[in-house]
Amino acid sequence: MISSDLHEAIRLLRAGQLVGIPTETVYGLAANALDPLAVARIFEAKNRPAFDPLIVHVGQRAELPYLVTSIPDEAQVLMDAFWPGPLTLVLPKSDIIPDIVTSGLPHVALRMPKHPLAQRLLQSLPFPLAAPSANPFGYVSPTTAQHVMDQLASKVSCILDGGPCQVGLESTVIGFADGRAVILRQGGVSQEDIESAVGRPVSSQTSQSRPAAPGQLDSHYAPHRTIQLLEHGGRPTKLALGETWISYLPKPDAFEALAPDGQVATAAHRLFSLLRKIDQQPGGVVWIEKAPESGLGRAVNDRLMRAAHRA
Ligand code: TXA
Ligand code: MG
Repeated sequence: MISSDLHEAIRLLRAGQLVGIPTETVYGLAANALDPLAVARIFEAKNRPAFDPLIVHVGQRAELPYLVTSIPDEAQVLMDAFWPGPLTLVLPKSDIIPDIVTSGLPHVALRMPKHPLAQRLLQSLPFPLAAPSANPFGYVSPTTAQHVMDQLASKVSCILDGGPCQVGLESTVIGFADGRAVILRQGGVSQEDIESAVGRPVSSQTSQSRPAAPGQLDSHYAPHRTIQLLEHGGRPTKLALGETWISYLPKPDAFEALAPDGQVATAAHRLFSLLRKIDQQPGGVVWIEKAPESGLGRAVNDRLMRAAHRA
């Protein structure tokens, strides 16, 4: 069911079916964003609560006037700087976006992905695609077609294989308050890059217990094994039998390193695959050293904290 047949994916999406699609961030579970029945299938397949709105993916900026009613100047600046790419903008929605897509909110989240296969798909379709990450609700996001296959095989008609995702964690989500950008979810475009594009400091409202982006629950990306976080530079004092530790930089006694080459982009790219890998092995607590809290490291640490959270 993993396929490289773009035409088959197009046919299925036109028929209102679900297709797993590659993007540069993570794999998405896509359906026609303008068809409420197709979108309902996404919520059902993911077991996703109806209060958690979806991102709508577009192939071209020319679609925007149909989908939103206004675009703040800072949104234009951010699109110029980062589209196509791992940046999602939350803008006032037009009437053609069904309420189920936005969970009844008056705003819609929009993103133009950079992955060449996603772009070809979107440019071949007469509608945009609603797509959350293609994982069961609350679990680690998928960064390969096989990850989607492992968990949602019975729920999707086809998974389009675009190779391993280059960025490896989800897009940065930006909302606007009085026309000014506010970060709602840390992701593939760093806060520093957002700030240099708009030319001022930008606040980050990613606080977990009262999420501004409704899907941002404290516990998310949760593997079955218990995760204990270590501050950047820290290490476990002692490992009990069956426990595992993942360092940031390579360490002789660590199971794996998040960033073998010391690059934070590598840590982002490897994070979800590593969480899946350790989850497939029996064992106790997994100790993970955090990334430095800057650049993409903020998004890596955000995902680690949610993966570690226990209600
Ligand atoms: O990189 C990505 O963003 C991936 C790929 C597939 O594009 N998608 C993704 O979707 O991560 P999902 O559904 O797992 O996360 C979407 C996030 C959630 O935190 C959700 O609450 C927020 O975007 N969001 C969506 N619509 C929103 C809206 N209208 N207002 C505020 N937040 C919104
Ligand atoms: Mg998700």
